[in-house]
Amino acid sequence: MVTSESQPTAAGGAMPRKTIAGPRGHWLWGCMPQLQNDGPGFYYRTWRDHGDYVRIRAIPGVYFYFLTHPDAIEHVLQKNHKNYRKPVFFNRTMAYLVGQGLFSSEGDLWLRQRRLMQPAFHRQHLAKLFPLMVAAADTFVQEREAAAPGEVVDLLDEMMHLTLRVASTTLFSTDITGEADTTREAYRTAFAYLNYRMGTLFKAPTWLPTPRNLAFGRAKRLLDRVVLELIEARRKTANRPDDLLSLLLAAQDEETGVGMSDQQLKDEVLTLLTAGHETTGAALAWTWYLLGQHPQVQNDVADEVRAPTARPRPDHRRPSLLTPGPRCLRGGAAPLSARVWPAARSDRGR
Ligand code: HEM
Repeated sequence: MVTSESQPTAAGGAMPRKTIAGPRGHWLWGCMPQLQNDGPGFYYRTWRDHGDYVRIRAIPGVYFYFLTHPDAIEHVLQKNHKNYRKPVFFNRTMAYLVGQGLFSSEGDLWLRQRRLMQPAFHRQHLAKLFPLMVAAADTFVQEREAAAPGEVVDLLDEMMHLTLRVASTTLFSTDITGEADTTREAYRTAFAYLNYRMGTLFKAPTWLPTPRNLAFGRAKRLLDRVVLELIEARRKTANRPDDLLSLLLAAQDEETGVGMSDQQLKDEVLTLLTAGHETTGAALAWTWYLLGQHPQVQNDVADEVRAPTARPRPDHRRPSLLTPGPRCLRGGAAPLSARVWPAARSDRGR
């Protein structure tokens, strides 16, 4: 997790009070080039060289705190979350893609939207979605089994395809992977653009018709179209399925009784589609990558899956096929892959 600006508070006891060390980089542009050119590699080396609490100099006077200890993450995201906000540069940049959805909003808007959507994430509701997730995984396995032996596949693309199917079927009861290639390409362009804007000090304003701005504009329009079609199709349906999209359409704030504007609805749907598939797709791809780097763990996982004690089907009470629990993944690739996922928070909301 990355938090920014000044030194994090020691309230709550989890954070060490001593000054946190870390790379300072160039006197003017600090570590920005490393962050932009090789984010995961830089974070990994920084963690290896400096440990779980690191201060990274971004530009003069601005520091990122790179926290990978579970106590620190609990401190910032759970126990003391009111002391930390997502930094403005992060929210503003994310908003180019997802507007004012839950992910990029703060304060009253965030609280209202959060209250509206909370029921869709209740345990009982999530349990009903589990068969859809299993079905998507089954389809993926069948597709892989049908492929020619030895065929080289891009696992990141495969995982994004799988998680796009899971996200669209569980959140909106619609499989949008028919357009997966164009959608994925649009996401690729959009994320490259957001990374560029977050990691570059001097950049052209967004309104200037540079090739980069124009490419992002095309990607954003395509993703907006995908989402608007989902919403339009649902509005025309008489029997609405019991899913997040129906809930968003019907949602009214408990206190004010006001529903969402069309713009807000579009932002939330795009937020959920984005947050719901990009994160899980990347996490799975990293997990495969790390399993490939650690053949012994990979073999142990395969043995566990094939063992006579393995469960025939996962369900929401026991999401793993493995018995007793995904031992190998718990001890090996999953914690490693969780380490490379950054979350951004700032203690002053700048
Ligand atoms: C490996 C999987 C995932 C990872 C690593 C991940 C990571 C994160 C992180 C770091 C944040 C920001 C936390 C903060 O600073 O406040 C976040 C927020 C969020 N995530 Fe995820 N996420 C994952 C899966 C998902 C999925 C599957 C969905 C949707 C179905 C989702 C929807 C959201 C939303 C809506 C927010 C904003 C929540 C709020 O501010 O109230 N995420 N996620």
